[in-house]
Amino acid sequence: MADEKLESKKGFLKGINLKKIKGMHITGIKGINVKFIKFRKATKNFKKDFEIFNNNKKLVYLDNAATSQKPKKVIQSIVDYYEKYNANVHRGIHELSEKATLAYENSRKNIAQFINASEDEIMFSKNSTEALNLIAYGLFEMLPVRKGDTILLTRMEHHSNLVQWQQLANKKGAIIKYIEVENGNLVYDRTTFTQAKVVSICHVSNVLGTINNIQEISRFAHDAGAVVVVDGAQAVPHMKIDVKLLDIDFYTFSGHKMLGPTGIGVLYGKKELLSKLNPLFYGGDMVKEVNYEEATFNDLPWKFEAGTPPISEVIALGSAIEYINNIGYENIALIDRELFNYAFGEINKLDGIGLLNINKNRIGIISFNVNGLHPHDVAHFLNTKGVAVRAGYHCAQPLHNYLSCKGSVRASFYFYNDKKDVDIFINSLKELLAMESVVEIKNKV
Ligand SMILES: Cc1ncc(COP(=O)(O)O)c(C=O)c1O
Repeated sequence: MADEKLESKKGFLKGINLKKIKGMHITGIKGINVKFIKFRKATKNFKKDFEIFNNNKKLVYLDNAATSQKPKKVIQSIVDYYEKYNANVHRGIHELSEKATLAYENSRKNIAQFINASEDEIMFSKNSTEALNLIAYGLFEMLPVRKGDTILLTRMEHHSNLVQWQQLANKKGAIIKYIEVENGNLVYDRTTFTQAKVVSICHVSNVLGTINNIQEISRFAHDAGAVVVVDGAQAVPHMKIDVKLLDIDFYTFSGHKMLGPTGIGVLYGKKELLSKLNPLFYGGDMVKEVNYEEATFNDLPWKFEAGTPPISEVIALGSAIEYINNIGYENIALIDRELFNYAFGEINKLDGIGLLNINKNRIGIISFNVNGLHPHDVAHFLNTKGVAVRAGYHCAQPLHNYLSCKGSVRASFYFYNDKKDVDIFINSLKELLAMESVVEIKNKV
């Protein structure tokens, strides 16, 4: 793999080696010229809240779908915990432990309010992936999922909402079906859900940026008697989530994609389901009574939190949520939309760019290919201009295969990006497209 990458880069520089990019999906569209309307007149320069931009003056960070940057306030909350009240939670009688427990449980309270859940419906995991594993293993056992039962996923799932279902389905003889994608959107009607025992679906695609209609999907799935799991990793950073309004059974997200630290994920579940679901991990803190023969489990939500939890991470996620609340999702959505419209309009003017999704019902994610070039080469070039993007499959290899793409370049925006970032990104692409070797490659493809 490493060799392939190197060879490709070398090839790009010399204008040779196009074997790997044959079959690239090119859907360049023209004529969309969305005006950039007085961007951020009413909002402040958010970058000054992020020390990383001070330390990397030329950084154009467009890899937000992989992980967001962290505001000083969030980083400070971690430092405060370790410097002022570091202790384990739920165990100590002493003052520091009480303080740490209070801060930890307060965060849970804030997170619950944030998505309109109750505190005992919020569990902490390492990340979305772990939470989605916990749900899959728990549901297979609880429902149970048997031979011939259907698990319904979509063609646009991230590996973290796919591989565990495959593993479990293979073991039990269950069947996985996929909702198709056309023009960036899911294609379904009520009948799509009739056989499903579990429907597990992303709220927002990490490649296409598509925002799925979870309320409708949940209604169809519930009418068919299925349990509904939603992977919200790309949604929560950008939009207000109300789990009651969406009426979903389980919802998961990761702190690090929404200004929080790594190592913390959230699992929401409806209380009546959580109380029946078995934990995935066993040990200290998740038990009530233990003897040498057996154990009884702790109440919700602690039944799902075995061992010392990620204390500073939970506290810092609470601080990230405060930061988001202070800006307000309406403002985040406005900035998202303006940035996306501007970038989308500009990238559409370029010749030789293929977009994976031309549908505009989405968050600020633009996945694309430069005609004839390996995505790694494009990302490598952009990096020389200070532009950080992701290149490859973005943990969604089946979707890329489905779209006949051997990977893509992904630019993903967040509210602290600005018009200048988009300009540098677009100008860098223009520079790349104008390079003699690239023009030669484009002409050959
Ligand atoms: C849609 C989606 N789901 C799940 C995940 C997994 O998140 P994590 O790596 O934090 O577990 C990601 C990460 O990129 C994602 O984009």
